[in-house]
Amino acid sequence: MEIFHQQIQKIKDKSKNQNHLKYSDKINLGAFYTPKEYVNIVWSFIKPFLNDDSVVLDSSCGYGNFFDTEVNCKKIGNDIDVIAISQAKKNFQELITFNKNALFNVNRDMFNISKNDKLIIIGNPPYNDITSIIRNQIKTNNFSIDADIKTRDYGLSFLLSYTKLEPEIICVLHPLSYLVKKTNFDLLRKFTYMYKLIDGIIFDSATFKETSKGISFPIIIALYKRESLGMQFNYIYNYRFKTIENKTFSLREFDFITNYINKYPSKGVNPKDNDIFFWTMRDINALKRNKTFVNDFNDNTIIIDKRRLDYYIYIDVFKQFSHYVPYYFGNLDVFINDESFQANKDYFIFECLTRHSFLNDYIKHNKSSTLKEANEKITNYFKTLLGEHFVHPTDK
Ligand SMILES: C[S@@+](CC[C@H](N)C(=O)[O-])C[C@H]1O[C@@H](n2cnc3c(N)ncnc32)[C@H](O)[C@@H]1O
Repeated sequence: MEIFHQQIQKIKDKSKNQNHLKYSDKINLGAFYTPKEYVNIVWSFIKPFLNDDSVVLDSSCGYGNFFDTEVNCKKIGNDIDVIAISQAKKNFQELITFNKNALFNVNRDMFNISKNDKLIIIGNPPYNDITSIIRNQIKTNNFSIDADIKTRDYGLSFLLSYTKLEPEIICVLHPLSYLVKKTNFDLLRKFTYMYKLIDGIIFDSATFKETSKGISFPIIIALYKRESLGMQFNYIYNYRFKTIENKTFSLREFDFITNYINKYPSKGVNPKDNDIFFWTMRDINALKRNKTFVNDFNDNTIIIDKRRLDYYIYIDVFKQFSHYVPYYFGNLDVFINDESFQANKDYFIFECLTRHSFLNDYIKHNKSSTLKEANEKITNYFKTLLGEHFVHPTDK
């Protein structure tokens, strides 16, 4: 009997994951299933807005995991993947299903939603950088995207597609970077003009088992409400984000390194003999993947302003100690406590020089320290910098 139950459980688990897809197709369609825990958070967020007239739509529903709920309301599921959507129909018989490209010719009619229906959109749309899909030579030409919602990221296009359906409420999972990176936020203008973030919970992408290849990044379960003024970046800058680990933070609490050095390469400058180069900075996760000081000048490097060399050293050391930084800061710029950095600067230089000895020609430190001592001082610096967010090695 026990074995029988285990087998049933296996079949059930399978039906929730899109196991009919090859790994490359899963990447292409962004087909990773959402655990029940997160689905439950979505339903608890939308609960205050649900009533008898509500229509709940997931326009990229996969096997329909988001409809695994007791709540009684009209439910519509759509997916571009025909096998997934037929499985969704089998899993949830009351579900009204469609097999359409949710990004093409987007309007309420495509899902038989009437003008007066009170629409709520939920789900976990795919998020992929379109350029990386193209790089991987995976076919994209079978997905047309309406011109007014086309962006370089599939997930941003999904958020924009929702605005065309004019829901009252949107509660979806998406990378936190869509909100906290100003360049992404600006691409979402058509969305942010109309919708305002009213609640959200951040979790680690590594908890989606199959996406855990590579560095994990923060995903937010975000609740948006239609409001006449929408939101401006300043609202996000001041917003207090919550994580699933019960931590909170706000962008305005950070002193970013970009306040001290120029993040972008100066155009049209030719390198001279004595120049030193640094890999172009993006966010903390990119820093973890990339190099810092490099030998050669190219499109990805910048020429260091030597008067600011200490801050480049700071970034290099930040990378070395980035295991103390929690996943939810992964899409922020490197940040600093300048006062405390100045007080400990010699240790930072000492530590950096042990790895990049060529810098001895450019900078000196005044401490005869040991590496052990420097490591301790720097670790203490990170404890002060991160406070309750400091990741203890045993937390992992
Ligand atoms: C991350 S999965 C989410 C599935 C489901 N919502 C869940 O969380 O279990 C994304 C889904 O989007 C679908 N998809 C990708 N592009 C689409 C498009 N243009 N239109 C509709 N669905 C699409 C994929 O087939 C995949 O099932």
